[in-house]
Parts: sequence; structure tokens; C-alpha cells
Amino acid sequence: MDGNRLFGLALEAAKASYSPYSHFRVGAALLCSDGTVFTGTNVENRSFGLTICAERSALLAAVSAGRKDFVGIVVATPDADYAVSPCGACRQVLSEFMPPEAPVVFGASLEKKVETTMGALMPYDALHELGQKA
Ligand code: THU
Repeated sequence: MDGNRLFGLALEAAKASYSPYSHFRVGAALLCSDGTVFTGTNVENRSFGLTICAERSALLAAVSAGRKDFVGIVVATPDADYAVSPCGACRQVLSEFMPPEAPVVFGASLEKKVETTMGALMPYDALHELGQKA
């Protein structure tokens, strides 16, 4: 899947954002190994701590559809004038399924984006062996 196309899907997903409190729309496009893409957006709540970020929306939709083979993610933040990185909670949740080498791209636009990896966003990641036990 072409990176620009994935960015376009993330931008499109941001249009569905429910963000009446922050007015900050976010869209995520999560790529599976066979090219399937799951998108998500941020869904805020008047009990602020219950807000779900776009990254976790996309991931929950994908896992709910039976997928876990994620090879990359793009996060688009069209309301920012600089690249806004995934929050700590999303880094932790994404790292449950995404290998350290998986590309993570985030940006306000194609011109203002950062390309990094899951491993760079989650150094000293640990405890994956807990999931290997029967
Ligand atoms: N947000 C995301 O959805 N993903 C990010 O990577 C950054 C933050 C959302 C949460 C909240 O709805 C709004 O952006 C402002 O923090």
C-alpha cells in the first residue's frame, strides 16, 4: 500500500472525529499484512478521561474483525500545524500487536509528517512473553 494513499485514508477518517471538547480531529489508518486497512477516529466524552484516540479506535475495529497482523500505521492530525505523535496509552496498545520495525507515520499533512517505527516510540518494551504462555 502506497504511503500517500494510507495518509489520505487517515485524513478521511479524521472527518468523522467526535471531538466537541478539544476540537482536535485525528484519523488513523492501520495497515494489515495483506493490504487491508482499518481506519479509526478519536471519540471524546464529557467525562474527559474516557476519550478514545484514533489509533485505538482503528486497532479495536481491526481486532474485532479478527485481524492482528499489523504492519504499519498512519496518524493524521489535520488541525495541528506540526506533527503530533501518538499518546503513551496508544503506544502501549499498538505495541501489543505491532513489531518494533513496523513503520509509524504521523503528521498534520503530507508535508508536515514524521516517519518513525514502533520500536522508536516504545523503547525498552517488555513483557511480551506473558502472551506466549498457554
Ligand atoms: N488524540 C488522538 O486521537 N491521537 C493522538 O495521537 C493524539 C491525541 C486525540 C485525543 C483527544 O480527542 C484529542 O486528540 C486531543 O488530545
